[in-house]
Amino acid sequence: MSTAMPAGEPDSHGTAIAAERRWAWVVIAIMALLVAMMIFTGLHWSAMPPSRVETVDVKTLHLKGEFVESNLGTSVGADGKVTVRLIAQQYSFQPQCIVVPAGVPVTFRGTATDTIHGFVVGRTNANTMLIPAFVSTFTTTFPKAGEQLMPCHEYCGTGHEAMWARVQVLPADEFMARAKPGERLSCVPR
Ligand code: CUA
Repeated sequence: MSTAMPAGEPDSHGTAIAAERRWAWVVIAIMALLVAMMIFTGLHWSAMPPSRVETVDVKTLHLKGEFVESNLGTSVGADGKVTVRLIAQQYSFQPQCIVVPAGVPVTFRGTATDTIHGFVVGRTNANTMLIPAFVSTFTTTFPKAGEQLMPCHEYCGTGHEAMWARVQVLPADEFMARAKPGERLSCVPR
């Protein structure tokens, strides 16, 4: 209780302005933190916004073209480039187990058949959405050998939490010994 104020007239206007100013600083601090996080992930993890758009016909996805079943998995081109092709559907990835070499750039090309999915590979920067009718692609290098989990990270329906695949990162020489020209590698048990 202030004895200096006239009876019944607390300085509510001044109190409100001081409170609003404090909250404004909190909001500015949150925005500055978010921008700093974007700059950090952009530079440190090489996270980039999509720079191109490539489409694919969902109706013929399984019938012809790049994403027919026999073309899914990991291939090594004549130029030595490693490419992983995969598709996502409710509620699995195809292939369910992906094999890649360590220390070599790997290009992922993927799409979805039914709704929006996505994936992240363990604690690496391999991370994308998979959208019907669009081809998502990125190139990354897995620094060390080992097995990683690859969960779907876009809510895609009631089975979302059970949708995941595995990624086996092999030492490069072991991977190259298994890769044959024209073949599609995966670690799905046959
Ligand atoms: Cu597919 Cu979540």
